Amino acid sequence: MRKKGDTVKNPFVFSKEVRDKDFCNRKKEIKDLLGFARSSQNVMIFSQRRFGKTSLVKEVLKRARKEGLLTVYVDLYASLSEEQLVKSYSEAVSNSLLSKTEKAFKNAGKLFKQLQPVLTHDDEGKPVFKVDVDLSKTIPLFEDVIDSVNRAVEKKRKKAVIVFDEFQQIGQFKNDRAEKVLRTHIQKHQNISYFFMGSKKHLIIDMFNNTNRPFYRLAAPYPLKKIKEEELTAFISKKFKDEERKINKETAASIVGICESHPYYVQYLCYIIWENTKTGEMIDSDKVAAGIKVLLEWTSPTYEATWSLLTTKQKKVLEAIAKMSEEEKMFSAELISRFGLGTPSSLQRSLKSLIDKDIVDREKDKYTIIDLFLKRWINKRS
Ligand SMILES: Nc1ncnc2c1ncn2[C@@H]1O[C@H](COP(=O)(O)OP(=O)(O)O)[C@@H](O)[C@H]1O
Ligand SMILES: [Mg+2]
Repeated sequence: MRKKGDTVKNPFVFSKEVRDKDFCNRKKEIKDLLGFARSSQNVMIFSQRRFGKTSLVKEVLKRARKEGLLTVYVDLYASLSEEQLVKSYSEAVSNSLLSKTEKAFKNAGKLFKQLQPVLTHDDEGKPVFKVDVDLSKTIPLFEDVIDSVNRAVEKKRKKAVIVFDEFQQIGQFKNDRAEKVLRTHIQKHQNISYFFMGSKKHLIIDMFNNTNRPFYRLAAPYPLKKIKEEELTAFISKKFKDEERKINKETAASIVGICESHPYYVQYLCYIIWENTKTGEMIDSDKVAAGIKVLLEWTSPTYEATWSLLTTKQKKVLEAIAKMSEEEKMFSAELISRFGLGTPSSLQRSLKSLIDKDIVDREKDKYTIIDLFLKRWINKRS
C-alpha cells in the first residue's frame, strides 16, 4: 500500500533487477539455493535471459549474508579476456570482503598475496575498490584471487558463496586455460559454494555436460523455471490495485497467459498498460490489446535489426517455428515442403545457427523462438 504523501508511480519494473516489493515469490528456489549455499555445493543455474536469475540470486545472497556466510557476486557479462576476468573477480572480492574504511584499507594487502586493490570513488562518489591487472601475470594473479576467498573463509572459520553471473563468457575465451585453473582450485575449496549462472543455455550446458571440458559435472544443474501463473497473477493484480487501477482476476490472468508467464514480459506489458490507463480506471481486454500493440511498436526496431541479419533460409525456418502447431515435427516432410525448408541437412544447419545466435531454443526435438514477442512480430508481418 502507498503511504500518505507518496506520489503515484508506475509500479512495474522491467529494465533492471528486481528486489523487495518488486520481487515476486520464488520461495522454493530461494530455499533450494540457500540449501546449496549452506552445504557448500556447486550449482549451475540456467535459463533464458531475463528470466530472473540475477534478481533471484541477489535475494539469496542477501539472506546468506544474514546467516553469516561471506558472499561474492561476480558479473562476467563484459569479461571477454582473462585480464578482464581477473579484474572483475578481484574487484568483486575486494568490494565484498573489505570494508571501505581507512583502517580496513591498510589491511587490504592481506586479502591477496600479489594483487593490490586501490580505494577510489565511483561516478556517484561512493568508495569502491579497483584493481589493475598486470597482463604478463594474469594466471598467477587469477590463482591469487581464486584462493583469496578460501583463505578468508579459513581464517574467519566461515562459509562462503561465490556467484559467477553469465559464466558462459569464460567458455568463449581463446583457450580453456582459465577454465582449467579455476577447476583445479575450486575443487579444493571445502567450505565454498559456487553458483555458475548462464543465459546462453546451449553454451553453459555444454561447459558442464561435455566430457572434454574442464567443468564436466562440476556442478549440479538447476534449471530456473517460470514463476507459477497464479503467483504472477496475484502479484500484478496487487500492484495495479495498490497504484489506483482496477483489474479483475481474469484480465490479470490473461496478461500472464499472453506473456507465457515470462516475468520480464509480464512486467513490461503491465508497465505499458498502467501508463495508458487513468487513475481509478478499469483495465479490460481492449486496454490489454492496446498494450500489446505499443509493446510491439517499441520492440519492433530491434526485431527488424535481428531479422535483417538473417539469411533467407533462416527467416523461413523462423517463420515455420512461429507458425507450426504444438504437435507438428520440425523435420516432417509436410512441414519442410509447406515452408520451403530445403533438405534436412540444410535445415539442420539453419537451426544450429539460430541456436548459436540465441534466437531459438531446443528442448529434445522441440524448437521454440526464445523471445515470445519476436514470435508475435513474425506472425504479424507475414
Ligand atoms: N521474481 C521476480 N518478480 C518479478 N519480476 C521479475 C522477477 N524475476 C525477474 N523479473 C522481471 O524480469 C526482469 C529480468 O530479471 P533479471 O533478474 O535481470 O533476469 P536474468 O538475470 O535472468 O536475465 C526484471 O527486470 C523483472 O522485470
Ligand atoms: Mg542476469
